[in-house]
Amino acid sequence: MRVLVIGSGAREHALLVALRRDPQVDALAIAPGNAGTAAIADQYQVDITSGDEVAALARQVEADLVVIGPEVPLVLGVADAVRDAGIACFGPGKDAARIEGSKAFAKDVMAAAGVRTAASEIIDNPAHLDAALDRFGKSVGEPAWVVKDDRLAAGKGVVVTPDRTVARAHAAALLEAGHPVLLESYLDGPEVSLFCLVDGQTVVPLLPAQDFKRVGDHDTGPNTGGMGAYAPLPWLSAEACRDIAAEIVEPVAAELVKRGCPFTGLLYAGLTITSQGPAVIEFNCRFGDPETQSVLALLDSPLGQLLYATATGKLADFGELRWRSGAAVTVVLAAENYPGKPRMGDVVLGAEADGVLHAGTARREDGAIVSSGGRVLSVVGTGADLKAARTAAYQIMSSIRLPGSHFRHDIGLAAAEGKITV
Ligand code: AMP
Ligand code: GLY
Repeated sequence: MRVLVIGSGAREHALLVALRRDPQVDALAIAPGNAGTAAIADQYQVDITSGDEVAALARQVEADLVVIGPEVPLVLGVADAVRDAGIACFGPGKDAARIEGSKAFAKDVMAAAGVRTAASEIIDNPAHLDAALDRFGKSVGEPAWVVKDDRLAAGKGVVVTPDRTVARAHAAALLEAGHPVLLESYLDGPEVSLFCLVDGQTVVPLLPAQDFKRVGDHDTGPNTGGMGAYAPLPWLSAEACRDIAAEIVEPVAAELVKRGCPFTGLLYAGLTITSQGPAVIEFNCRFGDPETQSVLALLDSPLGQLLYATATGKLADFGELRWRSGAAVTVVLAAENYPGKPRMGDVVLGAEADGVLHAGTARREDGAIVSSGGRVLSVVGTGADLKAARTAAYQIMSSIRLPGSHFRHDIGLAAAEGKITV
């Protein structure tokens, strides 16, 4: 099987590494990739937001399967263009990708499917902002405001704060820039990322993971795209995950079928386990980054065959997934000033070690690896349990050098110490 992966993050590097373990995969290509993926796949530069360019590349490399990593090409309909070219594609079409691309669509689908999620309201008129902030402050009886940019914002358009002034300033700035604002009620509890393979009605959950969104240790500072993740979750049973798949993800998949836009690919349920049970924070239409790096490190089933079965409507026949025992911990190394405008162009040392997955890296003419993005790389450690996996991940991190860079020191720590309960 010849596979073309679209994207350039550590998520895509992890996909390539797992695809390469599948004995049926004999050729790997990626566009646009990074310095790390270039070592294991043929790399091409095309505009990945163009369906025509991606479909043409898929034909050129004679791909049997195209796997689209990021949300932006999916929301723009790149998967439709690949399928129209007669090539199997792992990733939803434009219509189904609205589950991530349009918060209003997602809320509507969830309401129709009877799925619990935060109450929400879209504000597009600054004159209505104060009254809405008051309603949300009061209606939930919680001291926290949740203010979101109602467009794709790579996880960085969200402010969760107990301070009305901060909430108001974020909302006002978005409105000022002409962006509608989504206000949500605050959901309290530990978060879960449950990735599910979906082909139409069939839903197969992967191992659950937890992502660390805030930039600083102990959940301080602004939200980021994700600073680390671990899997599985010692505090969430396999039965609870099956229930989430059956009671939340299956009804949503069925609702998308009913609306004439069946989902094909990875449906990512971002949940909070509240005192009243799981509630959805958001759905994404793709693998999450950095959770994928942890989840795929534990997958024992052949990934190429699994994604191909999903893309061709044969997921129901694939059989039980196999997993390695133990745990995996991913820690992200970010450039100075991330999640603000990152410092770039510095030499990264130690990035070619085992367990390092590249994201914002490029190879300079003299052969050095240099930073070229906010999240520069992920390190992935595995072990018999979370504690051992943490030790392994931080061991790899300790041998990497990048001036001004930072990472979180507490990925998976509370769970390893048994401090998370639901
Ligand atoms: P999102 O981009 O919607 O995934 O939001 C980013 C992060 O903000 C989430 O992972 C949560 O940590 C937090 N968040 C978003 N919505 C809520 C909510 N309604 N209640 C509590 N936290 C939230
Ligand atoms: N890890 C969060 C995301 O991929 O959206």
